[in-house]
Amino acid sequence: MSTLVSPSILSADFGHLADDLEMINRSEADWLHIDVMDGVFVPNISFGFPVLKHVARLSQKPLDVHLMIVQPEKFIREFQELGVELMNVHYETCPHLHRVVQQIREAGMRPAVTINPATPVSLLKDIVCDVDMVLVMSVNPGFGGQKFLEHSVEKVRELRDLLDATGSHALIEVDGGVNLHTGARLVEAGADVLVAGNAVFNAPRPAEVIRAWKRL
Ligand code: DX5
Ligand code: ZN
Repeated sequence: MSTLVSPSILSADFGHLADDLEMINRSEADWLHIDVMDGVFVPNISFGFPVLKHVARLSQKPLDVHLMIVQPEKFIREFQELGVELMNVHYETCPHLHRVVQQIREAGMRPAVTINPATPVSLLKDIVCDVDMVLVMSVNPGFGGQKFLEHSVEKVRELRDLLDATGSHALIEVDGGVNLHTGARLVEAGADVLVAGNAVFNAPRPAEVIRAWKRL
């Protein structure tokens, strides 16, 4: 299977968002990564439903929504109505993670769980068989364009071992500071999906970057 690529619109040009979405539609990208921030769980606010309504209408790629918000379960219905494919909730925001994961699946979306850089992979043992994906944050969430945290490669390796040991078929996605070099190492360690913010949208020829990442 080739590497899946999920460009993050956080690094897109919001003055010309439709143009950037059109570029993604025409590219080999697999999904569209959407970072929703609330200024509470993370120290930044991104965008909400009035913007997402248009993004969902314009995107031909399945939506990979990364929720950096407290109480994400409050918005399951809204994301379902947007036609979201993957709903990523942070481990750190869900004391009743198992319940939230079931609710996302019952709403017809694919549940995914995300872990912060300081959250150990071992805490996921009892949830990996219930989710379709685990998202490993390789920066502290909240901003695009940050420096890749090296220990993420080892976390991906550890997660791959956990998935094998438990028989989980969850995909492994990595998000934050990924470039062609770190991407290659992550894929070698067992990553299936790479999120691309800065590396794609600030490149002179974004579609070519996506194409190169697909071949990692
Ligand atoms: C950070 C977001 C990322 C971000 C990645 O909180 O979750 O998805 O857009 O951007 P880069 O690839 O520039 O680190
Ligand atoms: Zn993200």
